[in-house]
Amino acid sequence: MPSISNKGNSMPQSPIRKLVPFAEAAKKNGTKVYHLNIGQPDIKTPQIALDAVKNNSIEVLSYARSEGSDTYRTKLANYYGMNDINVTANNIIATTGGSEALLFTIGSITDPGDEIIIPEPFYANYNGFSTASGVKVVPVISKIENNFALPAIEDFEKLITSKTKAILICNPGNPTGYLYSKEELEKLKQMVAKHDLFLIADEVYREFTYDGDKHNSVMSLDGLDQHTIMIDSVSKRYSMCGARIGCIVSRNEEFINTALKFAQARLSPPTYALLASEAALDTPQSYFDEVIEEYQERRNILISELQKIEGVRVANPKGAFYCIAELPVKNSEDFAQWILEEFHHNNETLMVAPAGGFYSTEGEGLNQVRIAYVLNKEDLTRCVEILKVALEQYNN
Ligand SMILES: Cc1ncc(COP(=O)(O)O)c(C=O)c1O
Repeated sequence: MPSISNKGNSMPQSPIRKLVPFAEAAKKNGTKVYHLNIGQPDIKTPQIALDAVKNNSIEVLSYARSEGSDTYRTKLANYYGMNDINVTANNIIATTGGSEALLFTIGSITDPGDEIIIPEPFYANYNGFSTASGVKVVPVISKIENNFALPAIEDFEKLITSKTKAILICNPGNPTGYLYSKEELEKLKQMVAKHDLFLIADEVYREFTYDGDKHNSVMSLDGLDQHTIMIDSVSKRYSMCGARIGCIVSRNEEFINTALKFAQARLSPPTYALLASEAALDTPQSYFDEVIEEYQERRNILISELQKIEGVRVANPKGAFYCIAELPVKNSEDFAQWILEEFHHNNETLMVAPAGGFYSTEGEGLNQVRIAYVLNKEDLTRCVEILKVALEQYNN
């Protein structure tokens, strides 16, 4: 039989999806499963975006431009301008989701064997994208004790080798919910300038910050134009995960021209979804005000309810819609499987993402889970109640 590549064999399974068969089996047995495992928001997509797809006179559904249309990228540049990020359409490549933006970025700046340093826990698919490019993820650990703040710069510097090409951060963080401060970004700036590295910031949750805190973009750092690359997406901003539109933003012309070659090789992002994304840019601020208030209330409920469970420790997220919770169990993956396979509370149970998959240091995060607060407040309260009962039973 012809053999699969070593690369293929080492592609990691998604920790977010691998418990799906157990959830499906639970549902077949009549148990209601609350999904706290995946960042699929329940928030309504702006109607103007949906209408743009419904009401148009397209007769030939043609390819779009590889980098996305001028009109879309110009409108997008205006949106960034309103967020203290001065860029033009030429600094932007539209991609098939933030996922493809990450793949093209890693593909453009690394060779096999190169290294990217990432604070962990991190978005698990960074492992997949890196593996696909033959790149090694080098984790630098951040801690639940201080809400997963930026690790000390010395910790990064210890890990920098001749193979290091980039530092990758997620801001606000998935799975941590941590929002990097201006000071932390300034520290990163000094370091990447000193070692001449790329600074990639995944800002797909940039809209979602709480307690009146402001998001700071790496694109607003002065004097770092050749080093900074921003990854963005419409998936979470407009609750449009199925559109599959994201983008790469950078003022580094050589990098953008390289990424464009990757974009040309896959021809174009999806045309209908580009239409929807362009229309979505006219979404009024009131939509975001409501959505952010909703997420903030959900976070408040989730965190305060979780804190009431004995033995549970939880970081306080300042952005995005996830939190990491430490549970009084040895192995959260076994527990997450058990609550689907062997447990229910009044015919209901939940699915969480075991956090081990968000770390690449062996043995880290084994008693942690990631909870996505993408359900309404009533359901979230119910979920924490179910979790409490489950933990009591599991530990008896
Ligand atoms: C941190 C982060 N980056 C990137 C993505 C990919 O998003 P998409 O490809 O839907 O734009 C996700 C999706 O959950 C994410 O959480």
